[in-house]
Order: sequence, then structure tokens, then C-alpha cells
Amino acid sequence: MNILVLHGPNLHLLGRRQPEIYGVQTLQDINKILDQFVAASPHDVVLKIVQSNHEGEIVSVIGDHIDWADGILINPAAYTHTSIAIRDALSTVGVPVIEIHLSNIYAREEFRHHSYISGVAEGVVGGFGAYSYILALQAMIHILGPTMDDN
Ligand code: DQA
Repeated sequence: MNILVLHGPNLHLLGRRQPEIYGVQTLQDINKILDQFVAASPHDVVLKIVQSNHEGEIVSVIGDHIDWADGILINPAAYTHTSIAIRDALSTVGVPVIEIHLSNIYAREEFRHHSYISGVAEGVVGGFGAYSYILALQAMIHILGPTMDDN
């Protein structure tokens, strides 16, 4: 199963960006944890991980993987709350999508309570810091996998 992992804007600064909200782990740390999880999985999982600060680039990356991705994990970051274009790209590709947030967006400012992405996602995982990514990956393997044995 091929899983595209997308990190949106400002997530390249994790570790330095408001650690009281987003944690101390860097994006490299998170990517490494995901790779380790895949290495330990009995399933045949291939991850492709991309970070971009640009909405159009995220739209392009999603579209470019239309024939490759079996599932998409995405932390759209601030584009969660603004981007119909990313939502449309995800709908176009038509594979299962899981939306990820490090923080609990519903416990934060009002403008973060609305997501354009949730309506096209199988589910949303948020509030668990870097662990949100592992939970989402586990859920995606469960969705795509042949058995209930997640890992
Ligand atoms: C975020 C939450 C968003 O509201 C914010 O704009 C981000 C990160 C999260 O992971 O908690 O950049 O997606």
C-alpha cells in the first residue's frame, strides 16, 4: 500500500514553532517515527513524505500521485481552515484521506474550528502531538489492509 504523507505550511519549523502548542519534536523526528513504524509493520507499506509551504504545490503533489497513492495522510496546517483547492484535489484523487493535527484545533481559536478538509476525510486525528501521525498511519493501514491486524 502506497501512502502519501503531506505536511503543510510552517510544519518545517516544528521543534522551534510554539513548542508549548506543537511539541518539541522536529518534522524530521516525526518522519523518522513514521518510517520506523512502517519498518516494524507486517504490511507492505511504502510512504512518500512531502512538506510544502505553498497551497498550489500541495494541490499539484496530490494530483501528481493520483495513480500512485492508495491513501493520503495530510496535516494541511493553516490551509485546513482556508483551502477549497486542497479539498477539491483530495476529492479528485478519491482515495481514503485522514486529516491530522498536532494540536486539538477545537480547543483553540474559533477560526481553527472549521476545516475544509474534514468533509472529504475518512477521519480526523488531532491533539496528540507527534502521536497523532502514528494513530493516523495505523488507521490508514487498517483501512487499506486486508485484516484487522493493524501492526
Ligand atoms: C495544525 C493546526 C492548524 O490550525 C495550524 O494552522 C497549524 C498546525 C496542527 O497540526 O495542530 O499550522 O494543523
